[in-house]
Amino acid sequence: MEVLNLLNPYRPGAGHTPPYLAGREQEIGNFVKLLDQQIIIKNCILTGLRGVGKTVLLDEFKNVAINEGWLWTSNEISESVSLTEERLCYRIMADLSIVTSGISIKKIREEPVGFTGKETEIDIPLNFRNIEDLFDEAAGLESDKLKYILEYAWDQIKRNMPQVKGLIFAYDEAQSLYDDTKNKTFALTMLLDVFQSIQRKKIPFMLLLSGLPTIQSRLVESRTYTERMFTILFLHKLSDDASRLAILKPIERENCPIQFNKDSIDLITHKSGGYPYFIQFLCKETFDIFLQQNSAGQELTVPIDSIMIKLDDDFFAGRWGILTDRQRELLSVIAHLESCEEEFTVQEIVTESKKYEITAFSNSQVNQMLSSLIVTGLIFKNRFGKYSFAVPQLNEFILRQNIAISKL
Ligand SMILES: Nc1ncnc2c1ncn2[C@@H]1O[C@H](COP(=O)(O)OP(=O)(O)O)[C@@H](O)[C@H]1O
Ligand SMILES: [Mg+2]
Repeated sequence: MEVLNLLNPYRPGAGHTPPYLAGREQEIGNFVKLLDQQIIIKNCILTGLRGVGKTVLLDEFKNVAINEGWLWTSNEISESVSLTEERLCYRIMADLSIVTSGISIKKIREEPVGFTGKETEIDIPLNFRNIEDLFDEAAGLESDKLKYILEYAWDQIKRNMPQVKGLIFAYDEAQSLYDDTKNKTFALTMLLDVFQSIQRKKIPFMLLLSGLPTIQSRLVESRTYTERMFTILFLHKLSDDASRLAILKPIERENCPIQFNKDSIDLITHKSGGYPYFIQFLCKETFDIFLQQNSAGQELTVPIDSIMIKLDDDFFAGRWGILTDRQRELLSVIAHLESCEEEFTVQEIVTESKKYEITAFSNSQVNQMLSSLIVTGLIFKNRFGKYSFAVPQLNEFILRQNIAISKL
């Protein structure tokens, strides 16, 4: 008897490797170009809305970089409180130690008292503990100490792994990295300053920051930001062709019991808007339902309305649930703006809010509320000071909610 492979291949979930990575050839090509640099002039920012595929592309970049002879170390910046300079130094040293701990360095050890003045040389690993000791012994400000450590580490890497082209420090969720002027901590400025300085000394350590587009305005706000320091890769939704591949490739295998017909492919492409997370989600649900319809001998149809309700629950409800009523009102006003899927201004929101049976919003209220919505990750401010939704199709979700505000 024929054995059917019933496993559902789709992977909706933050950071879950998709069964087929569709349509990112251009971004990968641009990244490969960055790897051609012998002296690093350009670092990389990978940005885009939530669920567009930054984290999984970062994984792909890692494979590409390692294949090209680079070392790679990565971490997620997930602090809810601002990162101090000191903590960032330790973070970077910990990340560095992952690639250097196999290297031995020489250390002079003084013989214990009694064995007059005799010194011996011993081998110790360049692991976190020993890097930390070197850091503590170094002179100057934290940034000077960190520069010293990075220079020292490169020297050792070169000596021990002469074929290595360089080292990439990749930070995901890097929108959480910023200068906190209130608490006088300038972690982001320090990071940029340290990398600029070591890159000037021809040390091939490259910085790759990935995260929500807030990242760009954070950089603009930071004192040392120079746009020249980064190539910005802005991930957009997938094209229709790439969306089709993302839908179809995973079920192109022997004995797959499910085939999507043209109508369901078109429906998923359309409803997902080309956003990878939505594609994975809609495909996963559809696959399961088709399996059942199949075995019950029914015609295959996609119950799209029920699936969309499930998607609302899965993707949006959590973020929506923590908002205050007034914040929801504000977002509803924004969702009615014609330009809400691109960008909007405080003034546009204020003007729009006057058309509804709600207490209108003043400029300063809108300003303040947008700032707190940025913290929740629903909104971002672009480098020209305009605002956008940080979550795809948020406007459609809001309009599906029954808190519709009525026109005057
Ligand atoms: N190019 C792609 N093709 C197919 N699926 C993708 C692609 N990029 C991302 N995905 C899927 O989309 C979802 C979100 O990806 P993720 O990298 O977590 O997004 P982000 O980090 O931007 O929020 C995951 O389920 C992932 O498998
Ligand atoms: Mg991510």
